[in-house]
Amino acid sequence: MDGDVPLDQPHTSRIYDYFLGGKDNYEADRIAAEEILKAWPDIRVAARVNRQFMHRSTRFLAEAGIRQFLDIGTGIPTEPNLHQIAQQSAPDARVVYVDNDPLVLAHARALMAATAPETVTYIQGDVTDPNSILRAPELGRLLDLNQPVGLSMIALLHFVEADVNKIISTFLDTLAPGSYLAICIITGDFAPEQLAAAQDVYRVRRMPAQIRKRDEVLSWFEGLELVEPGVVPPHRWRVEQADEIPASFDAKINCYCGVGRKP
Ligand SMILES: C[S@@+](CC[C@H](N)C(=O)[O-])C[C@H]1O[C@@H](n2cnc3c(N)ncnc32)[C@H](O)[C@@H]1O
Repeated sequence: MDGDVPLDQPHTSRIYDYFLGGKDNYEADRIAAEEILKAWPDIRVAARVNRQFMHRSTRFLAEAGIRQFLDIGTGIPTEPNLHQIAQQSAPDARVVYVDNDPLVLAHARALMAATAPETVTYIQGDVTDPNSILRAPELGRLLDLNQPVGLSMIALLHFVEADVNKIISTFLDTLAPGSYLAICIITGDFAPEQLAAAQDVYRVRRMPAQIRKRDEVLSWFEGLELVEPGVVPPHRWRVEQADEIPASFDAKINCYCGVGRKP
């Protein structure tokens, strides 16, 4: 299963797996994760809240009529996975998963694609090279890019130091009108010192990391119809009684999310 995965180098996918209570992580990942927990003790709660946003936003897209999903930064399979959520609402939904961690590839091929290869596939790719993802033969086999696609980048873009505006516009320029973009990302807006310390733990271990402000996240939705309630912390996105959640919870979760539709 390990293939050519360098086990002495922590990886964001396995650190996240550790936060979610998974078993697909190694000592280097656990050491880095424990350092991050010292800086941001509530990151485990944030990981679960982020996951719940993935569930709600995927359901929202399926109910809005989306039948093709491109999920980048998929992570190590964690039930329920995006295709399971989408196919609950739309059994004919097709899903292309993309991640740059070879370990995710190994697990995802075994667990996801093998269960429904005609509707789910996996590409090893890097979000910083959108054209290689969009032109991948595996993607072309499952997705018709003349029809709308739900593009999700959930808990991914804080691991990208490159120009996110350029990356997103390359994807959206190719996707058909009626496509959606769903994002969830870490921000330093609520607890800047804690988050800067967490960012440093990633960077000193040679993992790209970049926390961002709400204005930057908003700019990624320019030209899209932003779905209500806009760019907000994920525990406030289309949940009942969001107003009753105390503001102090925002500084535990430290994330923004949003969904936009290409007109
Ligand atoms: C925190 S996990 C999020 C998993 C899942 N999307 C979720 O929200 O539960 C981030 C994932 O992004 C992947 N990743 C990080 N940088 C990437 C890049 N440049 N291109 C593609 N995937 C990347 C990691 O390998 C990891 O699996």
